[in-house]
Amino acid sequence: MRTAIISDIHSNLEALEATLQDIAAHNVGCVLCLGDIVGYNANPIECIQLLRKRNVLCVAGNHDRAVAGQITTEGFGYTAARAVAWTRRHLDADALAYLFALPTDLTISKALVAVHGALHPITGRESVRLDTDERRRLSLNALSAHPSGARICAFGHTHRLGIYELRGGVIRELTGDRVFLREDGWYLVNPGTIGQPRTSDRRATYMIFDSAKSELTTHRIVYDTRTPFRKSRKVGLVPIWAAFPRPVVNAMMRLPTPVRTSLRRGLEFLKLGTSC
Ligand SMILES: [Fe+2]
Repeated sequence: MRTAIISDIHSNLEALEATLQDIAAHNVGCVLCLGDIVGYNANPIECIQLLRKRNVLCVAGNHDRAVAGQITTEGFGYTAARAVAWTRRHLDADALAYLFALPTDLTISKALVAVHGALHPITGRESVRLDTDERRRLSLNALSAHPSGARICAFGHTHRLGIYELRGGVIRELTGDRVFLREDGWYLVNPGTIGQPRTSDRRATYMIFDSAKSELTTHRIVYDTRTPFRKSRKVGLVPIWAAFPRPVVNAMMRLPTPVRTSLRRGLEFLKLGTSC
């Protein structure tokens, strides 16, 4: 079976439409979304409707659970928390109920386990980042003990593409857009993000897992990035610093989070860079 794996759509309708159109040309049996359907951008309800219409299987991300009122926005950045509040105000009861009912993990065909953040925590797994070998080892250990017998765990949350293999006690990151998975390995795979890239490469990314070939392929989709940006700016969701020159933005992103948050709040207070 071929499964398309997408993640972190973040209410970016243009990115989701372009990605689903590309997936449709690849003969997949199932589309799996690793959460964070909503947040940051301006089309949450349209993205939810499209996923439901296409019967996409989804797990809950931390933004989805925050919008549904299941977790607080403590620990969220300023822009993310503002988008959660905005999204909650703009979803109807049906869409909120859909987010509320999303599971925090799913198993597909006994071959693949899906989570948003990490597999190993008992609670709060949607908010844990697998961005260190130490945490990845914890989730790989949880995968090796998982009752499904699956050897692959798909995760999102970091918005970064990655394939990590545990074999012979050693964790390695595998590179390349076509990777073959071994029968004696355990794998963590992250398809990157559909709608909220955190690098200068603005393309949406997703993966296809072919269980018959034990093969993972990575796909990158060019789409109209200006339209979602324009929509988000119109409703006041674009980060204040987005209008600043790139070197200034890069310098800001290197600041510690508390300093960055204070700076953003100061700019917001002064109405600098906002368009709403
Ligand atoms: Fe996300």
